[in-house]
Amino acid sequence: MATLYINETKKKGRISPEIYGHFSEHLGRCIYEGLYVKEDSGIPNKNGMRTDVVEALKELQIPVLRWPGGCFADEYHWKDGIGPREARKKMINTHWGGVVEDNSFGTHEFMELCEQLGCKAYVNGNVGSGSVREMSEWVEYMTFDGVSPMADLRRKNGREKPWKVDFFGVGNEPWGCGGNMTPEYYGNLFRRYQTYIRHYDNAAPIQKICCGANADDVYWTKKLLETCFSAPHPQGGHGYMNGMSLHYYVVPGGWDKKGSAAEFTQEDWYKTLSKALFMDELIRMHGDVMDQYDPKKEIGLMVDEWGDWFDVEPGTNPGFLYQQNTMRDALVAAVTLNIFNRHCDRVKMACIAQTVNVLQSVILTEGEKMLLTPTYHVFHMYKHHQGADLLDSTLTGAGMAGPEAYEVPALQESVSEEADGTVCVTLANLSVADSYPVEVAFMRKQPREVEATVLTGEMCAKNTFEEPDTVKEERLDGVTVTERGLAFAIPACSVVSLRIR
Ligand code: AHR
Repeated sequence: MATLYINETKKKGRISPEIYGHFSEHLGRCIYEGLYVKEDSGIPNKNGMRTDVVEALKELQIPVLRWPGGCFADEYHWKDGIGPREARKKMINTHWGGVVEDNSFGTHEFMELCEQLGCKAYVNGNVGSGSVREMSEWVEYMTFDGVSPMADLRRKNGREKPWKVDFFGVGNEPWGCGGNMTPEYYGNLFRRYQTYIRHYDNAAPIQKICCGANADDVYWTKKLLETCFSAPHPQGGHGYMNGMSLHYYVVPGGWDKKGSAAEFTQEDWYKTLSKALFMDELIRMHGDVMDQYDPKKEIGLMVDEWGDWFDVEPGTNPGFLYQQNTMRDALVAAVTLNIFNRHCDRVKMACIAQTVNVLQSVILTEGEKMLLTPTYHVFHMYKHHQGADLLDSTLTGAGMAGPEAYEVPALQESVSEEADGTVCVTLANLSVADSYPVEVAFMRKQPREVEATVLTGEMCAKNTFEEPDTVKEERLDGVTVTERGLAFAIPACSVVSLRIR
């Protein structure tokens, strides 16, 4: 018997809704076909945005969307993506498949998408191959309400009022595809570029995101902060930055032989999950360095790229990074989101890579068909954590699962309290083979009502265009009220969500 102790009297901080964010890059079929099909498409759309995909994402209450990259961001020149579409410059997407990018999806289209989704906009600027002027003018174009060359150009292109840009990323992966820089060099560039990201609307200052480390590169974090940390700023954050990013992908077989997304062994299952759990260690490691500079935790750690990265589906363009999604991805999403919730004092945003048709996507499309992946269902089950207060919780009694080399805790949870007092528990069972009886024990709360759902299946279970509902969220039966709380059984290889009133 596993026991989940919940101390509902001990709140540990607010879970930033932006932890449930997404990333959309000009990569493969993410933007084109996935999110955007143009107005004259036979696929139902509103102003070019696929209606089915927008509706499904709205159901997740997607809080923030990052765009246009990724590596693409450091070769993106925003002026190529405005004005009459037929006159927009075409370019080669050198990073992703060498295909022609016709720039038909640009700033206006991205902002339209965010408006339809009702989410915050996270625009990622170009440091690698772009100038300070280019970045500064982009911000002026998007956010200035007065008379200026860029604001006038925006109006000429059909948008009278400025948009709200919530987050602005100053480059992407400068340690790699974004320019192969040292942390000191990038740190100085960051100081310079961010100076010209003006807050045209003082009531809604843009949050500036500095590019943090790749995975466990703590040296980067340390040198970067040494170079560009500054004293607190009256508008929040630390003058130069409001957030520092972290990128971490779970690549079970290593970069040369990542492994199949849909066909794998039990050993692969545990290896993947043990690598996913490393996120906890990463947040601690980078968090410890950040604490030395920013003990009040005013700078957010923004994990703006995370997810599983496997081999592409056989027969697809290797540069498009299109992969299937199984119960293994669902468990990776579940444990990672639990980790983010539990570190909500430091992690203020996270964006899964990438929304549609790429790495760990929540949606896959094929022509007019669309399916929701197991990862989608996890985001749906977890959405009530957005903006809730993290509660103190401890799990005992389930032990470990998996072979010695890749041993993982069998169960892992996070617990929060919504504004109306509803307690939201999300619990992952990482064991492929074993189900567990679980008791939820509160300090004082006496449950009156519970909504319980479960996502479960064989470890390789997935949704296909022929059978789109093989893996789906279902009601969890057999939940009973006990003296201390609740009791139920969690199936092997599953994710459970409980909303307790
Ligand atoms: O998500 C795919 C790529 O992974 C992104 O473009 C890049 O930032 C990262 O290396």
